Amino acid sequence: MLKFPSDFAWGAATSGPQSEGAFKKKHQNVFDYWYADDPDKFYDGVGPDTASNFFNDYKEDLALMRKAGIKSLRTSIQWSRLIDDFEKCTVNQDAVDFYNNVIDAMLENGIEPYMNLCHFDMPVELQHKYGGFESKHVTDLYAGFAEQCFKLFGDRVKNWFTFNEPKVILDGAYLYQFHYPLKVDGPLSVQVAYNINLASAKAIERFRNLYGNDDDKRIGIILNLTPAYPASDSKEDKEAAEFAELWANKMFLDPAILGCYPEKLVEILKRDGVLWDYTQEELDLIAKETIDVLGVNYYHPFRVKAPEVSSKSLQDWMPDIYFDEYEMPGRVMNVDKGWEIFPEALYDIAINVRDNYNNIPWFVSENGMGVSREERFMDENGIVHDDYRINFMKNHLKELHRGIEEGSNCHGYFVWTCIDCWSWMNAYRNRYGLIRDDIHTQIKTIKDSGRWFRETSDNNGFEE
Ligand code: BG6
Repeated sequence: MLKFPSDFAWGAATSGPQSEGAFKKKHQNVFDYWYADDPDKFYDGVGPDTASNFFNDYKEDLALMRKAGIKSLRTSIQWSRLIDDFEKCTVNQDAVDFYNNVIDAMLENGIEPYMNLCHFDMPVELQHKYGGFESKHVTDLYAGFAEQCFKLFGDRVKNWFTFNEPKVILDGAYLYQFHYPLKVDGPLSVQVAYNINLASAKAIERFRNLYGNDDDKRIGIILNLTPAYPASDSKEDKEAAEFAELWANKMFLDPAILGCYPEKLVEILKRDGVLWDYTQEELDLIAKETIDVLGVNYYHPFRVKAPEVSSKSLQDWMPDIYFDEYEMPGRVMNVDKGWEIFPEALYDIAINVRDNYNNIPWFVSENGMGVSREERFMDENGIVHDDYRINFMKNHLKELHRGIEEGSNCHGYFVWTCIDCWSWMNAYRNRYGLIRDDIHTQIKTIKDSGRWFRETSDNNGFEE
């Protein structure tokens, strides 16, 4: 049996906008707005209005999650639900009641709450008025919202996270057009990256003002790490991988953990005339307010090669002037999602965190397998036989275990996701859950993977 450390957390992750539904929300986030404006952009025309009905079903859902072995749950508090007036930071009482009830129900079910404060869900009002995280004023409003969350729920929630996958906000909203406002603006994406790191530091400052260095409470950030591998050993491919690593991973890892930006990245951005606007005071805050714990979302590696077109060509600045993605022949794929499956990268992440990031406490905050048309694997009783998902988790856990054995300070594995959830433009196309959600009836049924996860979490390990 492959055993994990005795305090290892077995959990699952979801987010407010993807599970709750928009019931009783006073404000729209960017996705609520975009869907209302252009529903055809979303798979099968399904939007975030009902999602998995967690707003109404949370009690039953949490009991079911516990049956699937989920002992910790990461979700998020929606800014657009909790706050009534974004400038004054006043709270909405219905929302406070809802999140209080959810947190209490988690604890009653023996599920440890992990709360995240931003999962791609900028209030659309702030996007339209200020450009969302394009604006430094919004970083202050966000810190105010974060402080409200700490004050309202910090008596029961010990694990807090400032952001989920900031890199995906850049990719989706400022580079490759899969999040509203669908801009294509490389230099602006650089500023947004900086502002998000700044917003995170500001939220951490509020947290420390309230809790000091209380050992019982921790704050962190959740990053999607995609280790960059060069297509070959050639100098050009290695240079492409070096930039890809700086851009995709270190631009967030370094300020969050080390309190500074990688010099090489700053040098390149400065040379290209696209470096973020900053003040020394802001850099000092980033240096001071580093995280206690890192959440790592890992799905796929980032294979790159030297770009076909020289970066010296006359073109608008985009990060990918420095690399082309490389499709490695013979790679194992999750064809439905279009992502390579490469569990070994999780070991590489473990070693990278151990050796280059002070061996900070960390956990896998998302890892999972999204499959479309999952009814293919469902029997006449509605049970999904998802061996592919069990194998995916086993293979990743083996690599993680190897990293832990070699001293990496990883203390948990959270699968994406507990119950099939609404996933942005893909809506319910790719199902990731340990529990199936029939979105027409909202009947929820544990899949084979949920039973396997239960056994694994109860045994703190699994037979190889
Ligand atoms: C993760 C995000 O990166 O990917 C989730 O944190 C998202 O919010 C998940 O749902 C899966 O994405 P998709 O597009 O396959 O449904």
